[in-house]
Amino acid sequence: MGSCKVPYSVLLLCFYVGSLLVPQCLSIGDDANQTAVLLVNASEALGRPIPETLFGIFFEEINHAGAGGLWAELVSNRGFEAGGPDIPSNIDPWSIIGDEDSSLTLSTDRSSCFEHNKVALRMEVLCDTEGTNICPAGGVGIYNPGFWGMNIEKGKKYKVVLYVRSSGAINVSVSLTGPNGLETLATHDIIASFCDVATWTKMEVVLEANASNPNSRLQLTTTIKGVIWFDQVSAMPMETYKGHGFRSELVDMLADLKPKFIRFPGGCFVEGEWLRNAFRWKATIGPWEERPGHFGDVWMYWTDDGLGYFEFLQLSEDLGALPVWVFNSGISHNDQVNTSNVMPFVQEALDGIEFARGYPNSTWGSIRAAMGHPEPFDLRHVALGNEDCGKKNYRGNYVKFYNAIKRAYPDIKIITNCNRFSQKLDHPADFYDYHVYTSAKDMFSLAHRFDHASRNGAKAFVSEYAVTRNNAGKGNLLAALAEAAFLIGIEQNSDIVSMACYAPLFVNDNDRRWSPDAIVFNSSQLYGTPSYWAQHFFRESSSATILHSTLQPNTSLVASAIMWNNTDDGTSYLRIKIVNFGNNTVNLKIRVDGLEPNSIQLSGSNKTELTSGNLMDENSFKEPKKVNPNQNPLENASKDMDVVLLPYSLTAFDLLKGSSNIRTARTDSFSRSSF
Ligand SMILES: *[C@@H]1O[C@H](CO)[C@@H](O)[C@H](O)[C@H]1NC(C)=O
Ligand SMILES: *[C@@H]1O[C@H](CO)[C@@H](O)[C@H](O)[C@H]1NC(C)=O
Ligand SMILES: *[C@@H]1O[C@H](CO)[C@@H](O)[C@H](O)[C@H]1NC(C)=O
Ligand SMILES: *[C@@H]1O[C@H](CO)[C@@H](O)[C@H](O)[C@H]1NC(C)=O
Ligand SMILES: *[C@@H]1O[C@H](CO)[C@@H](O)[C@H](O)[C@H]1NC(C)=O
Ligand SMILES: *[C@@H]1O[C@H](CO)[C@@H](O)[C@H](O)[C@H]1NC(C)=O
Ligand SMILES: *[C@@H]1O[C@H](CO)[C@@H](O)[C@H](O)[C@H]1NC(C)=O
Ligand SMILES: *[C@@H]1O[C@H](CO)[C@@H](O)[C@H](O)[C@H]1NC(C)=O
Ligand SMILES: *[C@@H]1O[C@H](CO)[C@@H](O)[C@H](O)[C@H]1NC(C)=O
Ligand SMILES: *[C@@H]1O[C@H](CO)[C@@H](O)[C@H](O)[C@H]1NC(C)=O
Ligand SMILES: *[C@@H]1O[C@H](CO)[C@@H](O)[C@H](O)[C@H]1NC(C)=O
Ligand SMILES: *[C@@H]1O[C@H](CO)[C@@H](O)[C@H](O)[C@H]1NC(C)=O
Repeated sequence: MGSCKVPYSVLLLCFYVGSLLVPQCLSIGDDANQTAVLLVNASEALGRPIPETLFGIFFEEINHAGAGGLWAELVSNRGFEAGGPDIPSNIDPWSIIGDEDSSLTLSTDRSSCFEHNKVALRMEVLCDTEGTNICPAGGVGIYNPGFWGMNIEKGKKYKVVLYVRSSGAINVSVSLTGPNGLETLATHDIIASFCDVATWTKMEVVLEANASNPNSRLQLTTTIKGVIWFDQVSAMPMETYKGHGFRSELVDMLADLKPKFIRFPGGCFVEGEWLRNAFRWKATIGPWEERPGHFGDVWMYWTDDGLGYFEFLQLSEDLGALPVWVFNSGISHNDQVNTSNVMPFVQEALDGIEFARGYPNSTWGSIRAAMGHPEPFDLRHVALGNEDCGKKNYRGNYVKFYNAIKRAYPDIKIITNCNRFSQKLDHPADFYDYHVYTSAKDMFSLAHRFDHASRNGAKAFVSEYAVTRNNAGKGNLLAALAEAAFLIGIEQNSDIVSMACYAPLFVNDNDRRWSPDAIVFNSSQLYGTPSYWAQHFFRESSSATILHSTLQPNTSLVASAIMWNNTDDGTSYLRIKIVNFGNNTVNLKIRVDGLEPNSIQLSGSNKTELTSGNLMDENSFKEPKKVNPNQNPLENASKDMDVVLLPYSLTAFDLLKGSSNIRTARTDSFSRSSF
């Protein structure tokens, strides 16, 4: 993320100030109509292939995007490590069931069987099934409310895994219950003799819920006196995306964008406020029980790292997207490693590349294979650090990483944090990061940002962009339209911009560290913001052909024309996209040159619009599709059309091409001067 240190409260403040200053231009009026002309030249000589990986997504562990989000683990702080390695430690959000004075005491000790996460929970039960101190009927023990409630659904199965040992025989009820423990949705008793649990033992239970509650919790209770230790308590839905542990409906939202790459795992998350709290990939691989977890000190929350380096690579593969791995270059927000001492970090990165794509018989590739993926992952891009160009040691460190990686993996593309617009690149790179968080007005004007940039040298990776300030709210139509215009500009300039992704992708509504975001969710609900839906208009752009087009006038309009193939049914479309960033209806004449006569079919074409009654309109859990693309058949489609663009709208025309038609261009000798 850019400007990492701007907390949401500050953004909120900007929002209010902004809305006071610009009141009248926000309502959509219908002034006198404007007219405009869009000329598209579909001729072969002027077309240019758009990079295959132009549009993707950027996942950062921010806003509980992964822990309590994309990663389907229901238990928060499953290993009791979130309170730190020292004891006694805070076991939050675990809580006690029963009376602390008479029925049980909870504490932590460092008796876990797992070397890298020694803290375990010790539960001493004082009450019993007989005698003077009888346990309450429901038992005593502990519960975990998950990340703001577990979404438990009737008829679905959940796998609970836990590690246990005890001073005697046990009878522990593992239950999913409503928020106050009264309603039981599923339960199973773990019964074991002392011999079975005298040392740490793994237990697995599958629970099937007989009712639904989006705010459930997991309970471990007993009515037998004794001491029981618990560690690494996990509850996962049995149904996850491709069985790989991801929350399906959230991944579906991503798959629907047809992303061609995933940049991960940050952002500032990669840097850390301090190096000791930065994401370290080696601590996130192997059996989940053995991962230490870590406190992300930029976004200020603990993650058990169930969503680790391997899982990110797996997600990329599952989505048919290329992984773009961002790793720490020996630099955090507040401390950095001297270039003379950075080689261990370089080795760490080389090992990470080997983990992703080394042979199964290599040191790190063998660990990947042991995790169930002997085939290499398709890692072709790595990025060194995040927004660190200005840091004292960045360039020095960068060169060491660059040389070592290129020596071992000549084909890997390397991304530098140093933006070519700020200063001339003084080191080799395949791509440079370009981050922009700005107002809607400015973002709209940035549609022309790359028009006059040098066509030589490292290409741009727009790895973070979003409208944030001035009236962006929690993600509204205004922001989405400005971003759409910016993306159209990126299509136009995709000879020098190779990749682009919005940020941030996700926000758990219970931990809004940053606004706006593309996808908002809580335990059971989700919706896309208008910025998410705007990206839908670009789903077909990667590897399409961009055509030459001119727009007159172009003050409040931005447009592009692409030719794309629907590989499902073999059809081809000419897609014209236009953002009308003004408050007037525009009567637009579209003229397409360079097509054979009758090459556009009369039916089978569509028009898709993204607009709303008010520029400030947002989606919400209540109205998830208030601002949503509206698709309709376009009658009488033709290469000469008069169309109407609504005020403040994004419109796409998909014109179905006939069979004997176009000469689509695929030439590398494309000359930039035509744009
Ligand atoms: C449309 O925008 C123009 C220029 O920004 C402004 O002067 C005019 O009042 C706006 N009209 C409406 C109906 O909002
Ligand atoms: C603007 O154009 C629309 C669609 O062509 C038409 O219905 C409307 O009457 C026009 N308004 C004005 C003021 O010309
Ligand atoms: C379209 O491009 C071709 C090739 O450059 C050119 O011959 C033709 O005149 C162009 N058409 C228009 C209308 O500009
Ligand atoms: C285990 O405990 C549950 C709940 O207290 C009880 O219903 C069950 O009968 C016990 N099972 C055995 C074998 O004691
Ligand atoms: C669901 O199962 C629990 C535990 O077996 C039981 O107490 C509860 O009554 C059941 N609820 C429904 C709705 O069947
Ligand atoms: C999710 O958000 C909706 C809308 O705010 C709310 O009604 C619901 O209770 C939330 N779910 C939980 C588990 O908090
Ligand atoms: C290395 O780090 C130390 C302390 O952090 C600093 O004093 C020294 O100047 C650094 N050396 C270089 C070459 O940057
Ligand atoms: C590892 O496997 C590859 C591919 O099967 C093979 O070419 C290579 O010789 C092996 N290396 C070692 C050290 O066994
Ligand atoms: C679309 O398919 C046609 C025919 O297979 C091919 O010639 C053309 O290059 C493809 N265009 C794009 C943009 O993929
Ligand atoms: C549109 O306007 C921008 C600046 O406002 C200019 O740089 C660009 O060349 C114009 N594009 C066309 C196609 O007229
Ligand atoms: C056109 O719209 C129809 C109906 O919404 C839809 O089924 C079809 O897939 C659309 N085609 C394209 C290319 O978007
Ligand atoms: C399409 O063309 C037919 C025949 O000219 C005409 O009757 C019809 O009104 C047109 N439809 C639209 C939406 O313009």
